[in-house]
Amino acid sequence: MDFTTQFLGLQLKNPLIASASPLTASLDSIKKLEDNGIAAVIMHSLFEEEINHELHQVDYFIHAHSNSNAEASTYLPTEVDFDNLQSEQYLEEIRRAKSAVNIPIIASLNGVSAGGWIKYGKKLQEAGIDGLELNITYIPTSIDMTGDVVEKMYIETVKNLREHISIPLNVKMNAYFSNPANMAKRFVEAGANGLSIFDNPTRVDVDLELLTALQNANITSSKSISETLRWCAILYNKLPCSLCANTGIHSAEDVLKAVMSGADATALASALLLHGEAYAKDILLGMDEWMQKHEYESIAQMKGSISHAHTDNPSAYERNSYMYSLQHYRD
Ligand SMILES: Cc1cc2nc3c(=O)[nH]c(=O)nc-3n(C[C@H](O)[C@H](O)[C@H](O)COP(=O)(O)O)c2cc1C
Repeated sequence: MDFTTQFLGLQLKNPLIASASPLTASLDSIKKLEDNGIAAVIMHSLFEEEINHELHQVDYFIHAHSNSNAEASTYLPTEVDFDNLQSEQYLEEIRRAKSAVNIPIIASLNGVSAGGWIKYGKKLQEAGIDGLELNITYIPTSIDMTGDVVEKMYIETVKNLREHISIPLNVKMNAYFSNPANMAKRFVEAGANGLSIFDNPTRVDVDLELLTALQNANITSSKSISETLRWCAILYNKLPCSLCANTGIHSAEDVLKAVMSGADATALASALLLHGEAYAKDILLGMDEWMQKHEYESIAQMKGSISHAHTDNPSAYERNSYMYSLQHYRD
């Protein structure tokens, strides 16, 4: 069976990628993921806030000593002075992962603004990563901030990062735009080579005992796959970029549905966290079984076959079916 696929210009042995999560923060897990057939790994994120915290520390260091004497510049921190900080640790994790496994390693930056932190993209590139994912998740809480302002912030961040790196860039986008397809186009115009559809936001809850708001990481199930399929199907073949289905992929069937909708690859976090690294092997076996039974020979053969442009029922992705499906509700 030919599972190979292209993602971000990288040749992958199959469409299974380990999405950013605590699993991809451990070298041991990354090795196990590779042993169980995962084709690429997206590292856990380095956050803008973590980098900025360090930039402020550097700033403080410089200013705290700037008036000491004429040789003040000798106080300037060298890279070595900061190699115990979060971002230096992240670079070290990447170097270790790159030398321990043969599959592509994609780093992940997580932030919302086009500030100095973006320069870390270059450091990550120099550490030898095969690609970089940028997760931009901004939650506007001001009722005066227009969508236009938010969208520009997203686009500027992508443009700014692109200026600092030449390696493949994957933008992990969310669905909270008036027109996600137009944002997808603008991300590609700003320099993205791939799009992850979609990031899965954290869950907000209220603790009735503590009377406080809570925010937790969101463990998904296959039921969360709907918007992933819809937007992969809508975007398939419309943009010069790769598509990665990135929420609700939990089984062999989910991977196949995503590929048929138009995804070049699928990224899994919850399923691997719930069932462990070896679950990747089960998924690959399930894919092989299904494809043999239905006489498919390759992933390429099925890609986009049920996309918006190719399905015999494009209205399933549109408003046309919306009223009908509500009126003909079945459990
Ligand atoms: C515990 C946990 C930690 C995560 N950490 C990150 C992270 O560091 N960076 C990131 O971009 N996404 C992170 N994610 C999001 C996942 O990479 C993934 O996009 C999301 O969970 C949807 O995929 P899934 O349905 O397979 O879980 C995390 C998700 C979980 C559940």
